[in-house]
Amino acid sequence: MARVLITGASGLLGLNLAIEAQRAGHTVFGVTGSRQVALEGVRMMQADLLDGTARARMWEAAAPEWVVHCAALADLEACEREPERAQALNADLPGTLAAEAKAAGARFVHISTDAVFDGERGDYTEEDAPNPLSVYAETKLAGEGAVASANPAALVARVNLFGWSLSGQRSLGEFFVNGLRAGAPLKGFTDVYFSPLLVNDLAGLLFQMFEKDLHGLYHVLSRDSMSKYAFGVRIAELFGYDPAVIAPISVKDAGLAARRSPNLTLKTDKLAAALGHPLPGIDEGLARFHALYEAGYPARLKAAGEIRPE
Ligand SMILES: NC(=O)c1ccc[n+]([C@@H]2O[C@H](COP(=O)([O-])OP(=O)(O)OC[C@H]3O[C@@H](n4cnc5c(N)ncnc54)[C@H](OP(=O)(O)O)[C@@H]3O)[C@@H](O)[C@H]2O)c1
Repeated sequence: MARVLITGASGLLGLNLAIEAQRAGHTVFGVTGSRQVALEGVRMMQADLLDGTARARMWEAAAPEWVVHCAALADLEACEREPERAQALNADLPGTLAAEAKAAGARFVHISTDAVFDGERGDYTEEDAPNPLSVYAETKLAGEGAVASANPAALVARVNLFGWSLSGQRSLGEFFVNGLRAGAPLKGFTDVYFSPLLVNDLAGLLFQMFEKDLHGLYHVLSRDSMSKYAFGVRIAELFGYDPAVIAPISVKDAGLAARRSPNLTLKTDKLAAALGHPLPGIDEGLARFHALYEAGYPARLKAAGEIRPE
């Protein structure tokens, strides 16, 4: 069992990672930014990771063996509006933290994104040249480079994910469930392909990567892919709604400021070979997403964010 430091512990990935790490028996220390979170058995601290004094307090308090760096400016439209903040959080901070982890003798994994590719071709391997299309993607790619040069033993995990979040509104899976429940008219892109992994499954894979002592760049996604429209239809079917309420549309008609890569299918063969087993498929992840819902998991997450003064 390890002492695990998780940044971005109020975020979609970080919060679920904290839950899964604690469930796996690790000693967990979570860092949040503006939001306060309480999870039984997890030490939580609020800190602005751009502040060196706050980071020094964090390293001292957590004394981690493993660090999973999930904090980021992960909203694509916000990155277009605030490119300097995106640079600081997504490009510069990962390198700083990777260097600090090295100095502290801790293993480090940086969470990156499938969006580093332009999505013109799909089926990308770790060897393929990225071509980012947005401020978010550009700064995330710069973050990968900063981590690799500051700490060559670090891991960089390119991900795409879905799951249940604190706000109940962070992931595409939640977008479809919320809209279906509200009876709202929904749209799904038929021309954007992706390979999202359930955050809870991603957590387990990251721990295996530490246990196997891997380092370097890995694609950590579902082993298969589908369009965002098909993803919505699968969710409607699983949750007992009429899939016909989801209108198939093209991303070109969506009026988004940040450009989206149309085919973000990524190969996961490198990680499957290193771990000795295939990665989960999207339908397996969706089945677990539904099972978590049935077990009241979203309410548990919501409660983690409802901190009342003593
Ligand atoms: N969501 C996706 O579909 C997706 C896809 C591909 C890659 N990724 C990558 O996966 C990682 C996790 O994404 P996510 O969706 O979990 O992100 P998220 O839900 O937006 O959470 C971002 C986290 O970063 C924290 N944070 C931001 N600025 C901070 C600061 N200055 N100091 C301390 N903490 C700060 C936030 O804290 P507060 O909220 O408390 O301020 C929050 O916990 C990111 O690296 C992202 O780029 C995500």
